[in-house]
Amino acid sequence: MAYNLLKGKKGIIFGALDENSIAWKTAERVHEEGGVFVLTNAPIAMRMGQINELAKKTGSEIVPADATNMEDLDNLVVKTTEILGGKIDFVLHSIGMSINVRKGRAYTDQNYDFSHKGWDVSALSFHRVMQSLYKADAMNEWGSIVALTYMAAQRSFPDYNDMADNKAYLESVARSFGYFFGKDKKVRVNTISQSPTPTTAGLGVKGFNGFISYAEKMSPLGNATALECADYTLTLFSDLTKKVTMQNLFHDGGFSNTGVSQEVMEHFV
Ligand SMILES: NC(=O)c1ccc[n+]([C@@H]2O[C@H](COP(=O)([O-])OP(=O)(O)OC[C@H]3O[C@@H](n4cnc5c(N)ncnc54)[C@H](O)[C@@H]3O)[C@@H](O)[C@H]2O)c1
Repeated sequence: MAYNLLKGKKGIIFGALDENSIAWKTAERVHEEGGVFVLTNAPIAMRMGQINELAKKTGSEIVPADATNMEDLDNLVVKTTEILGGKIDFVLHSIGMSINVRKGRAYTDQNYDFSHKGWDVSALSFHRVMQSLYKADAMNEWGSIVALTYMAAQRSFPDYNDMADNKAYLESVARSFGYFFGKDKKVRVNTISQSPTPTTAGLGVKGFNGFISYAEKMSPLGNATALECADYTLTLFSDLTKKVTMQNLFHDGGFSNTGVSQEVMEHFV
């Protein structure tokens, strides 16, 4: 159902790789709600991905940007304001990657070059994106910036590896930059802590099938899907949440506040 929640709003959506991506679903839903946006992803991801299809479907332009490269990000911000004809109202940072995870390195056996790269892509990139927007004064007042995160930032999940540390950093950046963006530009900054979701990034986590089934059984409302995450993100882009900022918001069917569920206990009786 569409409510025209984002009519007249302009934005940037990072991270739509394929139709499973949370960013892909978000782009489709933003479009349905009347928002317009530029799609962006790392140049290498574009060659593999199907982003052109999404651009066509949503009437959007694509501006490639590696989220670890300031020149790319500054160019993206300038181009977006040109393409959309004005300042930006919403930004989705939906970016994550760990080379340690990809190469099967245990948390106790990290390659620090991999750690460094993963941190730059997954965590520092959020600061980079915001600094670029802030310095260019590219956000409209009461704009909204959202990044996606996972509860391994608060609690340990052995196979989430160095992404846990990257997410903790990401969430801290949301609070720290959120202060300045709020004070100086009246822009809100939040992270959404999403349930495990079967995407390229999600499926890369070792033991993902066990992980997602366990979360499903632990969550009173069941796991949140990518589409439900998109819907929640829209509320944060809308004018209905203007005073929500510097928060890490759990979108997980209640998982994060559940000690144990009946279904999980039944495995042990
Ligand atoms: N899937 C899950 O279980 C889950 C759960 C909680 C949070 N998240 C988070 O959601 C976000 C989106 O991931 P997803 O699950 O939709 O997977 P996805 O693989 O579809 O998206 C990850 C995106 O990051 C992009 N990316 C990687 N390196 C980049 C770079 N240098 N510059 C720009 N973009 C780059 C990829 O191209 C891809 O589009 C990530 O932050 C992820 O950690 C995912």
